[in-house]
Amino acid sequence: MKNAPFYPSSPPPAFAVRTARWSVDEPAIAEVRRRVFIVEQGVPEALEWEAIDADCAWFVAEAGAGLVIGIARLRADGRIGRMAVLPPWRRRGVGAALLTAALSEARARGLAGVHLAAQTHAVRFYARFGFRVEGAEFFDAGIPHRRMYIDFACGEAGIQPVSRAGDAVGDEAARRILTTE
Ligand SMILES: CC(C)(COP(=O)(O)OP(=O)(O)OC[C@H]1O[C@@H](n2cnc3c(N)ncnc32)[C@H](O)[C@@H]1OP(=O)(O)O)[C@@H](O)C(=O)NCCC(=O)NCCS
Repeated sequence: MKNAPFYPSSPPPAFAVRTARWSVDEPAIAEVRRRVFIVEQGVPEALEWEAIDADCAWFVAEAGAGLVIGIARLRADGRIGRMAVLPPWRRRGVGAALLTAALSEARARGLAGVHLAAQTHAVRFYARFGFRVEGAEFFDAGIPHRRMYIDFACGEAGIQPVSRAGDAVGDEAARRILTTE
């Protein structure tokens, strides 16, 4: 995927996801990182900005006239991270569209799979795509995380309907998806 926009299939898009150009989009990407990770989640600035940033592929979700509302990063080593959607835009499919774009690029590069460190609250978000938890919970920047991995050889998982809280049948399905230990 180069600069072609990726549109979610339904409902009709109020936003679009595209590959970012670091030289142009870096300020808008930095603003989302600042608002979500530094201000909202309290990540220290020294941990947020990384020397590898300029060498990564970035994806941006835009609404309206070029307003960046969400971001994702794919590192050269195939790790996905820095997934962030501005609070008013959450639970509207923006994160799923960004993750789809990043996974699509990882596949296009011929990677066997993708690793990521999921904040524990977001494990279910990634599990819907087929990511599985590996290992115990750990802390990074004071935030609980779990390592997760998706093996592309296991097939195109796509986004799966996983349970809502209180759905006993769905919760059992979620446990099966979430755990490989
Ligand atoms: C995690 C995040 C990127 C998800 O983005 P989003 O745009 O809200 O996600 P989507 O709307 O595409 O969600 C798709 C599905 O994932 C699941 N999901 C999304 N966020 C979730 C959360 N925080 N907890 C549990 N499940 C979640 C839901 O099942 C959701 O579908 P539903 O709304 O129909 O139930 C967003 O909540 C965010 O930016 N959080 C703050 C930063 C952060 O924690 N980033 C993750 C770092 S690992």
